Amino acid sequence: MTLIAPSILSADFTRLGEEVKAVENAGADWIHIDVMDGQFVPNISYGPIVVKACKQVTDLVLDVHLMIETPDARIPDFAKAGANYISVHAEACPHLHRSLQLIKSLGVKAGVALNPATPLSAIEYVIDMLDFVLIMSVNPGFGGQKFINASLNKIIALSNMLSDAGSNAIIQVDGGVNNDTIEAVTRAGASCFVAGSAIFNTPDYKTTIDGLRKLSDK
Ligand code: DX5
Ligand code: ZN
Repeated sequence: MTLIAPSILSADFTRLGEEVKAVENAGADWIHIDVMDGQFVPNISYGPIVVKACKQVTDLVLDVHLMIETPDARIPDFAKAGANYISVHAEACPHLHRSLQLIKSLGVKAGVALNPATPLSAIEYVIDMLDFVLIMSVNPGFGGQKFINASLNKIIALSNMLSDAGSNAIIQVDGGVNNDTIEAVTRAGASCFVAGSAIFNTPDYKTTIDGLRKLSDK
């Protein structure tokens, strides 16, 4: 099943509630919320109050992507704010097993995000704990970047790794997903597609989301 997850990083923040409602009405499955701390990535975005605000306007799954150092200190606040799914970066978690345990103990679905240069071996020994794996197909920090093609082989390898382990974890791909890249990403084995600029920079979200879904259903 295809899941389309618009990233509100590219939304119009002067009208955030309307933007979230608009992608919900246009058929989005999840709302992807990019949290950046200016340390782990060279950009600062927003924190739990934005998750809480989204929760007030939508019943869709809130998928919180933590691009922050020491995420364990913040995870409870995001759970309380209404996150349904939380991903932490393997590169930011010296005790990744503990971070995942913490997320799950709060009743939230747990995922690990991997930067383009991070090997899949980073999740080998926590694979049974994962509800989803986020493959970054750009270097995290900004919307609107170009898809890194080497991500495709990584998604194929992850797909094999998960089936070998008997895992049903969702493969999510984030960065540069658009009409030109989504078919290849689908063929590689992903089923959850984060898209920021490819959705919010278009005039008609329903047409855009329908188009992405159609290309990913092939
Ligand atoms: C990048 C973020 C992405 C970003 C994607 O650091 O994790 O979620 O919003 O933006 P696009 O879809 O424009 O590449
Ligand atoms: Zn993201």
